[in-house]
Amino acid sequence: MASSSLIFAISAIFFALRFSSAHSLTCTSHKLPGKDFPNCKDLPTLGATLRYSYNATNNSLSIAYMATPAKPGGWVSWAINPTGQGMQGAQAIIAFKSNGTVVPKTYNISSYKSIVESKLSFDVWDLSAVESDGVITILATVKVPGKPDQLNQVWQVGPSVTGGRPDKHDFAPANLASKSPLSVSTSTSARENTTTGGDKNGGVSVTNNRFGVGFFAGLLMLVASCVNF
Ligand SMILES: *[C@@H]1O[C@H](CO)[C@@H](O)[C@H](O)[C@H]1NC(C)=O
Ligand SMILES: *[C@@H]1O[C@H](CO)[C@@H](O)[C@H](O)[C@H]1NC(C)=O
Ligand SMILES: *[C@@H]1O[C@H](CO)[C@@H](O)[C@H](O)[C@H]1NC(C)=O
Ligand SMILES: *[C@@H]1O[C@H](CO)[C@@H](O)[C@H](O)[C@H]1NC(C)=O
Ligand SMILES: *[C@@H]1O[C@H](CO)[C@@H](O)[C@H](O)[C@H]1NC(C)=O
Repeated sequence: MASSSLIFAISAIFFALRFSSAHSLTCTSHKLPGKDFPNCKDLPTLGATLRYSYNATNNSLSIAYMATPAKPGGWVSWAINPTGQGMQGAQAIIAFKSNGTVVPKTYNISSYKSIVESKLSFDVWDLSAVESDGVITILATVKVPGKPDQLNQVWQVGPSVTGGRPDKHDFAPANLASKSPLSVSTSTSARENTTTGGDKNGGVSVTNNRFGVGFFAGLLMLVASCVNF
């Protein structure tokens, strides 16, 4: 019967959404212990969050980036690209487990082929990383390169690290779309506000890399074809 397959398809979607959201972070699902930030955003892909506070007096930006590596033993990364959008030119902080401890390192990603551990083109201080329940948090304060209302952020998660070097990440749609403009100059000075209102991409983070966009498109097509019967 068409209606029973429709019900099946709809329950499959709800199940998938529930299941995948368990692997995906949001500002409300994962608190940051210890430190308060006035702003938190669910990033549009890869189930990552960015907490931040901007200090206009000395043009500094403190961030806490939370994400789950693509596989246990993998890496997470947050970057500002002062010269463009996307990975090429990004000044990245990458954190991964090294000898049992999570360490943050800085990389100059001048091209896809040249990911060199180096100082960044802007000052970074108070850099640290912690892991809890498989979630890695990068904490850092950076001197904002350029205008605080026109930053380009890039983030990523990767599956593995070989010889102290992060291996290539997947090239699924979620991995390729993980960049967005970031405006920190209008940040509130209130206590951490975990509602995602005002973040137009807030709800998208349930499509993580385990069930990519294609998976959901497939389910929607299944529903559509059921309705046609
Ligand atoms: C902002 O930076 C200035 C200069 O370092 C400092 O005096 C001030 O306390 C900072 N404000 C906050 C809210 O941290
Ligand atoms: C800027 O302000 C932040 C926050 O108060 C502080 O941690 C940092 O040391 C200051 N940096 C400079 C370069 O003054
Ligand atoms: C990053 O690498 C590019 C290309 O090698 C170089 O021109 C640039 O100066 C580097 N930036 C930093 C901050 O090291
Ligand atoms: C891990 O520990 C070994 C032995 O202490 C050391 O030789 C190696 O350099 C460490 N690796 C990293 C990436 O720190
Ligand atoms: C949190 O943010 C939402 C949406 O921007 C806003 O409606 C709400 O008033 C804020 N709550 C607090 C306590 O600032």
